[in-house]
Amino acid sequence: MTKLKAKDIYDLYKEFHVPKNVIDHMVKVADVAEKLCDKFIKKGIKIDKELVVKAALLHDLLRVVDFKELKLKRIKQHVTSEDLEFWTDLMEEHKEINHADLAAKILNKRGHKRIANLVKKHFITEIDNLKTWEEKIVYYADKRVKGKRKVGIKRRMRKSTKEMKKKLIQLEKEIKKVLKD
Ligand SMILES: [Fe+2]
Repeated sequence: MTKLKAKDIYDLYKEFHVPKNVIDHMVKVADVAEKLCDKFIKKGIKIDKELVVKAALLHDLLRVVDFKELKLKRIKQHVTSEDLEFWTDLMEEHKEINHADLAAKILNKRGHKRIANLVKKHFITEIDNLKTWEEKIVYYADKRVKGKRKVGIKRRMRKSTKEMKKKLIQLEKEIKKVLKD
């Protein structure tokens, strides 16, 4: 089990100036993921729920890195000059790394290796590399939440390629099958 506490997660949000809309999204993903964990556990499948929830709460910690531009209208909060400077620098400095890899790198350095792994694996193209249920749950829960609303997989992935949609539907089937049996 990881030592990361709720207060540490809150501190990470502050440290990395996570926009409020991104926090809202992560909170909803964590909620969806937690409910999924409960269903798996009810089926007698061992799941590290605490780990899943923490990873879900951190999966988009560095989301800003992949923003093409800062859409301040979407960030419904009071934006300080420090926020703006932090976000702009982040976007400038990390053009070569995606938000999942960067967050995983930081969490790894700080000793949260298992959380880091789940965070890394939530990135869209990691779908072929998902092995554990914990990885699959965090990945899938994220793909069921658009902004802070739970939606169907097809709605959330409207802009994805046909191939990606196919893989996602397959993952959904795999999860539903286990929960139904
Ligand atoms: Fe997400």
